Amino acid sequence: MSAQAPITRITAPRIAARKGGTPIVALTAYTAPMAAMVDAHADLILVGDSLGMVVHGLPSTIGVTLDMMILHGQAVMRGSARAMVVIDMPFGSYEESPRQAFHNAARLMAETGCGAVKLEGGARMAETIRFLVERGIPVMGHVGLTPQATNTMGGFKTQGRDQASWPAHIGDAQAVASAGAFSLVVEGVMEGLADQITEAVAIPTIGIGASAGCDGQILVLDDMLGLSGRVPRFVRKFGDLGPRAEDAIAAYAAAVRDRSFPAPDQTYR
Ligand code: KIV
Repeated sequence: MSAQAPITRITAPRIAARKGGTPIVALTAYTAPMAAMVDAHADLILVGDSLGMVVHGLPSTIGVTLDMMILHGQAVMRGSARAMVVIDMPFGSYEESPRQAFHNAARLMAETGCGAVKLEGGARMAETIRFLVERGIPVMGHVGLTPQATNTMGGFKTQGRDQASWPAHIGDAQAVASAGAFSLVVEGVMEGLADQITEAVAIPTIGIGASAGCDGQILVLDDMLGLSGRVPRFVRKFGDLGPRAEDAIAAYAAAVRDRSFPAPDQTYR
């Protein structure tokens, strides 16, 4: 009898060990079927709070709740088997205190089985990140353009346009890394700043609208598949599924109206 090795998921230490190595492939997914497609190709699947805008039609990520993240996190875990799954902590679920963050991160981990949580913020979140990591919760950081802070930033604005601000951004990244985060999303920053952040921290940086010099890249799946309407300039559409889906829907509607669907072989006789 041959014993088959169980399929094990990629873990936080394995992602951390990729610093300076083969770039980490990361994508978002919010549902089981999408997670299954991504799982074969990506090292890491992020159940991003972008799901509030992409799936639920919210104007920003501010209205996303912990229960929404848990529901989508469970679906993504069911749909995948190999990639590490990281779930975003939504706005209001971690900023108040390290204890609040632990309570809600523990719910995310226990109720979904995900491998880590992600939270936004630099030096101001360092104490919270340390608190979580010391208690067994792997944390991915997120600096630069942090969408949950767009109300204070005045919109989705590229960070680091003024080079005088770079030391503060680099300090934020270093604070997150020193606090014990295993990796760091660097979003919407000038390319040179992303490169300097990548050099300044010992954990992998995962860029989005940042630099090819980061230790990995992430995109919102729906954006790169061409399923979203307008996308930021930094998104490359690797597919054009939106128009193709609309064509299929229009063809179905026409077939229903002219009674060519269902055809005889599509009915039970
Ligand atoms: O919510 C999200 O999808 C994200 C990625 C864009 C990094 O945070």
